[in-house]
Amino acid sequence: MATSSSLAIEAHGLVKLFGSVRAVDGIDLAVPPGGVYGFLGPNGAGKTTTIRMLATLLPPDAGTAKVFGQCVVREAKAVRSRVSLTGQFASVDEDLTGIENLVLLARLLGHSWSQARARGMELLEAFGLSEAAARQVKTYSGGMRRRLDIAASIVVTPDLIFLDEPTSGLDPHSRNEVWGIVRALVAQGTTVLLTTQHLEEADHLADRIGIIDRGKIIAEGTAGELKTLSGSGSLHVRLRDPGCRVEAMALLGRHLGVPVTPESDPAGLSTRLDDTERASAALDVLAAAGIQVVSFSFGLPSLDEVFLSLTGNQAEGGANSGGAT
Ligand SMILES: Nc1ncnc2c1ncn2[C@@H]1O[C@H](COP(=O)(O)OP(=O)(O)O)[C@@H](O)[C@H]1O
Ligand SMILES: [Mg+2]
Repeated sequence: MATSSSLAIEAHGLVKLFGSVRAVDGIDLAVPPGGVYGFLGPNGAGKTTTIRMLATLLPPDAGTAKVFGQCVVREAKAVRSRVSLTGQFASVDEDLTGIENLVLLARLLGHSWSQARARGMELLEAFGLSEAAARQVKTYSGGMRRRLDIAASIVVTPDLIFLDEPTSGLDPHSRNEVWGIVRALVAQGTTVLLTTQHLEEADHLADRIGIIDRGKIIAEGTAGELKTLSGSGSLHVRLRDPGCRVEAMALLGRHLGVPVTPESDPAGLSTRLDDTERASAALDVLAAAGIQVVSFSFGLPSLDEVFLSLTGNQAEGGANSGGAT
């Protein structure tokens, strides 16, 4: 077990109020060094506010937080020397070129001109931006811009980097490039705290995940642990004849005593079950009634289903998302 001094981030009862809004409402965190910690939650959950406190940019109203054993309030300067924050409000200048941005930052951080230029070119190369080095950032695509944001935040290699929704608004190709960069950061020894609204992203990248909702962590663990939290798996069945679906749903509902729901595929249906034995019994029931099954799968629930079972809300894309105050 990690002792407190060996943790990358340790927070107890962290609170931040904005007027009457409890943006962060008593958060505890224990993030070991190395790897990716995923901070997963819908818009307005308190992710950005939490990482701004951890990065010393915002004083907590209550609670304590340490980064590599140093207090984010009393030892803010020391903390700042070891962390980097990038994301929603990055600091690159649109009118400068890619290389100019990186050289400027490296100069501000104390490199000589020649060191700054060398580091800038090295980062552009590593992030696949060499060819765009001399172009103004305002001509960059969204994906190029995001890669430059991350490059800018690691001009001096940080021990801990906060990536605040680094892939929001990116197409799948650019998103995969950013995922590659995150893995490369981890490989060089940096600890990553990544916020995301995407369950799939946390599932792909994070070693551990904290699910945050309305300023509180409502579940914490590995993706696998979180998936077993909802206590059941999903059986998905595809019938040969969509015309049999109503009958199949009624039969299974009666036999299993759990709700059976239609899927968007007109021949598909699914149900929640706690073990594989019941899943195979369900298939027997259909066979006995002469209803043919083309394919079926039984697996742990998706993180979306976990979020739904923990909060009763859709994590994203639902009618009530985007409703941050
Ligand atoms: N500077 C601020 N002033 C007032 N309210 C804020 C401010 N920053 C965030 N909030 C509110 O705090 C809550 C959490 O916001 P935020 O931390 O940005 O969530 P997330 O990053 O998870 O989307 C939201 O209700 C948001 O509107
Ligand atoms: Mg945010």
